[in-house]
Amino acid sequence: MHKKIGTLATLVASTLALGIAAMGSAHAQAPGKIKVGLMLPYTGTYAALGNAITNGFKQYVAENGGKLGGREVEYIAVDDESDPAKATENANRLVKRDQVDVLVGTVHSGVALAMAKVARESKTLMIVPNAGADELTGPLCAPNVFRTSFTNWQPSYAMGPVMLKKGHKSVVTLTWKYAAGQQAIEGFKESFTQGGGKVLKELTLPFPNTEFQAYLTEIASLKPDAVFVFFAGGGAAKFVKDYAAAGLNKTIPLYASGFLTDGTLEAMGGAGEGLLTTLHYADGLKNPKNDAFRAGYAKAYKLQPDVYAVQGYDAAQLYAVGLNAVKGDATKKDEMYKAMGGARIDSPRGAFSMSRAHNPVQDIYLRKAAGRENVLVETSAKALADPARGCKM
Ligand code: BEZ
Repeated sequence: MHKKIGTLATLVASTLALGIAAMGSAHAQAPGKIKVGLMLPYTGTYAALGNAITNGFKQYVAENGGKLGGREVEYIAVDDESDPAKATENANRLVKRDQVDVLVGTVHSGVALAMAKVARESKTLMIVPNAGADELTGPLCAPNVFRTSFTNWQPSYAMGPVMLKKGHKSVVTLTWKYAAGQQAIEGFKESFTQGGGKVLKELTLPFPNTEFQAYLTEIASLKPDAVFVFFAGGGAAKFVKDYAAAGLNKTIPLYASGFLTDGTLEAMGGAGEGLLTTLHYADGLKNPKNDAFRAGYAKAYKLQPDVYAVQGYDAAQLYAVGLNAVKGDATKKDEMYKAMGGARIDSPRGAFSMSRAHNPVQDIYLRKAAGRENVLVETSAKALADPARGCKM
């Protein structure tokens, strides 16, 4: 009798143990797909930028068998329209309704700032593949917010010494009046005025207006040595064409951060030829990663990549570093963020590391527009780190 009970007990115990083991292994083997929320502009002046970021991200995933951290990837994409007024609702939808594991976005600094608030409050990982808002890796830096692009300060700061070396002493600036434009101008002004340059006037127009005529007339009457601008996407192409049509390209040299000419040279129809810009990427950079990346992108999309595609590709690379460190278990957030913070990314732009504030420490290149390419002239700032003013992490 005793023996029977013992046998039964052993049977129950071992069945239970088997069941628990089976449950455990089922959990370990099938954690489901990683949900990637792409919140990017797919319409409006920054539509091409959002598409290039998406292409770059998906290219890296495709190169890795459609997986990140060993898990299949599901994409949920939202067109943010570069509209800050819709940003909180869009981000909340991805986090609360769709329960994404990561928010990837966006292009527009104002939209990104609203997204980051949602990410911080919901403790969702956010990877910024473009928006340069200095605050994201400055006073608003956070353990769960990473960026694979730049701060608005970085590429513009690198232009000051370049223009001073060319002998330009007085400059007029022009940009859209929102965080990206204003911070880009601040970055440029910092190094330009430190080196003895003078900014005669800072002109702005509302985003995304492209009625430039009145500003071009004012620039002509101010007669600066040179002009420095921040524009990107469709608006950038229109600005450069208008600058040339007004004849200003013959009398007042135009300079900018590289967003002016990245992905826009074809639309400029030759008006951008010879423009000098500073950015963390150049088309013909000679490194094996860039060669492979460009060939893969051209094959997959029948297009040439630009800086936005690189940033999207690197967003996927950075996420893979985090997920690989936790074998795909995205709930192990601290471990994942530690790996991402310490990552050294083998990027088409050249390798970069993450700053303490989670922003790339990277080379900034001086490039010259030639045909449809932004060709490398020289490295204008080596391993440039954003000062991350106000980051308390
Ligand atoms: C921004 O809003 O941060 C931005 C948009 C386009 C290019 C670069 C920066």
